[in-house]
Amino acid sequence: MNHAPPKGTYDATPSPQSEEFAWRDSKKWAFVESIARDLAAIFGCSFLSTPIFENVELYLRSVGETSDIVSKEMYTFEDRAKRLMALRPEGTASAVRAFIDKRLYETPFKRLFYIGPMFRYERPQSGRYRQHQQLGIELFGSSSAEVDVEAIHLMLEFYKRCGLKDLTLNLNSLGTRTCQKNYTASLKAFLEKHKNTLGEDSKKRLETNPLRILDTKNPEEKKLLESAPKLADSLSEDSKKHFECVLSLLDTLDISYTLCPNLVRGLDYYTHTVFEVTSSSLGAQNSIGGGGRYDHLVKELGGPEVPAVGFATGLERVIQTMIAQNVSFGTHAPLILSLFPIGEKARKHAFKMTAQLRESGISVSLDLSSKNPTVAVQNALKLDSLYFVVLGEDELDSGKLILKHLESRKETPLALDQVSEFLNEHALPPHKKP
Ligand code: HAM
Repeated sequence: MNHAPPKGTYDATPSPQSEEFAWRDSKKWAFVESIARDLAAIFGCSFLSTPIFENVELYLRSVGETSDIVSKEMYTFEDRAKRLMALRPEGTASAVRAFIDKRLYETPFKRLFYIGPMFRYERPQSGRYRQHQQLGIELFGSSSAEVDVEAIHLMLEFYKRCGLKDLTLNLNSLGTRTCQKNYTASLKAFLEKHKNTLGEDSKKRLETNPLRILDTKNPEEKKLLESAPKLADSLSEDSKKHFECVLSLLDTLDISYTLCPNLVRGLDYYTHTVFEVTSSSLGAQNSIGGGGRYDHLVKELGGPEVPAVGFATGLERVIQTMIAQNVSFGTHAPLILSLFPIGEKARKHAFKMTAQLRESGISVSLDLSSKNPTVAVQNALKLDSLYFVVLGEDELDSGKLILKHLESRKETPLALDQVSEFLNEHALPPHKKP
């Protein structure tokens, strides 16, 4: 049997990984996730957990039938009752579905965050996976520009707390649905006249979703777009005002940005502000996060009229950027004690002692597999344990043992019943004391 994970996926494990895959170290993941949870709380967001699969219809009606994510990248399957389901390619659609289903619009819980896996059948490469982890934030209930900026601020604050530097915030406004409709018509008319310059993909998009052509990487198409009508010229007065307000609030918070008139994002639900953050430390897949306002999605999925704005960031790319920028991942809570019993009697005693120490908040690894004390010490070091102790017949008979501090190698003789008190005093951080 092949034990590798499926193509385009990976395992995050606590064991040391090669330099290339250092981002798969699960301790780094725990560190970044704890930053995300703390920050979400500071911005008043509550945790949301939704299924990782949904009815396909949800994505057709939100992300959009003609988007790449739905038309090319979705993992779909028929369940045993012949319902057509999809592994979620993104989190906003599920958040909106749950928001409507649980009538969260009637509660104070209108700011939500989630952390979890998303699935896209893409060609795997560095920074692009078939299963990736997103931190997502969705702020429901206000169409004010302040909330757009709150979402952007939260996103950038997350990157700041992760220690990231040299990021670019790209920004655009798509205006209202009417602005988009008007612009799409004039863009289409222009591109029809230059159809011969368009590649096959863009020719198809011209029929299905002309706005997405603005996203093109093809140099000839990019050149052509320079003389195409501009989205900004199709914005209504209200849309322009909203966007100007966003820009001025960003200035208030000293957040710098780059205006990107061709930024449209690959999901159909956006209106008004859209944004994306890129990192120069990543390769081709340099977008670490993106989002925008989606004022009609709740209504379009059958709920009341509730405007919203949000973003999601790919945690693989965040951790990869942290590594590329030599950011420290903090000191994770170390294991306090490795306890190695020798003999049946000591094993029984050690089992009980472990349970009691854990009840008093001390993390213990009970080593039942090492062959001898030398191997046990080596394993304790690999686990980053602070202290090591052997418990054998001699220790039980004398009622005394020797606690070894692994880094300083200092040995402390203690009575058996003093271990808990000693570790409480010397190893437990103040906020963890019972
Ligand atoms: P998205 O731009 O499709 O937006 O994805 C957000 C982030 O997920 C990207 O910026 C990228 O960091 C990461 N990502 C996407 N695909 C992959 C992949 N195949 N491998 C690794 N990372 C990936 C959304 O998903 C929207 N739901 C964001 C949003 C929330 N808009 C409003 N609210």
